[in-house]
Amino acid sequence: MHIVTSEDLSDGILQELFISATDFERGVTANTHPLKDRIMATLFLEQSTRTRMSFESAMIRLGGTVISCPDGKGSSAVKGETDYDSILTVCNYADVIVVRTPNPWPNLNVRTPANYPAIDFDLINAGDGSNNHPTQALADAYTIWKKFGRLDNLTIGIAGDLKKSRTIHSFVEMMGRQKNNMMILLDTVDGDQTLGKPQPCAHTYANILGFYEFFPDMDVIYTNRVQRERHDQHVWSSNFALSPKLLGRLPDHAIVMNPGPRREELPPELDANPKVVFFQQVRNGMFARMALLKYLLDS
Ligand code: NCD
Repeated sequence: MHIVTSEDLSDGILQELFISATDFERGVTANTHPLKDRIMATLFLEQSTRTRMSFESAMIRLGGTVISCPDGKGSSAVKGETDYDSILTVCNYADVIVVRTPNPWPNLNVRTPANYPAIDFDLINAGDGSNNHPTQALADAYTIWKKFGRLDNLTIGIAGDLKKSRTIHSFVEMMGRQKNNMMILLDTVDGDQTLGKPQPCAHTYANILGFYEFFPDMDVIYTNRVQRERHDQHVWSSNFALSPKLLGRLPDHAIVMNPGPRREELPPELDANPKVVFFQQVRNGMFARMALLKYLLDS
């Protein structure tokens, strides 16, 4: 199976993964090494801390083995190899490949050479340029499900680099397809109200003052840094940052999320506030990825 966009993780699959992730988290899974003798390759042609290491930790916890190309600089990408060639090379070495690229995802189905023997491999997109990041959306949705017991009927504020943030793109798709979710989007770069990517789901754009007005009704605030490296022109900083005062305007049950790495939009001084679940998201991501790897390789 190929998990390329958040749409590849249907609501049915999500529910199955949430139950399985909870079992892993509680340590109640009977066979703790279901992926013994299986190999996962992490082909990361762009920097990462939590996505790659949480996948690797997940695989090792499941009893599997990991081979890794942790940085594009140490790969043949430097010699001009295409992502397409790199993927069709590495898939020979592993049962599942987790790939991060700075470029849009290559269309493997159209261009795969006829009779290529290994096209049957499992493949997970761990972030392709500013497009998609389906397993971060999985980790984010799992965090919301753990808190609220559901993904629907929520008011969700999203503040970030709407055009360039792949985590926002995948999160908006996954939460936008749930029933009765209201999503309020704030662009923190230049206020330009576009996701830069078609999203067939319900959402509305706000300016910064309009965004603050929704705070008393928000169940979830999702923040993400300005993706400086993806802008042609230099962008110095976010025009939005949370503060103790703003957190105080949220309902008691609200949670504040950020996929990391965080910058000025979520100052560390706020970490002691119980609404801020930034580091819980990190941990949830590992259990959610354990569930996904088991689902792909052990079913
Ligand atoms: C994100 C990414 O790489 O898109 N990080 C992550 O995987 N948790 C978000 C970001 O870089 O801002």
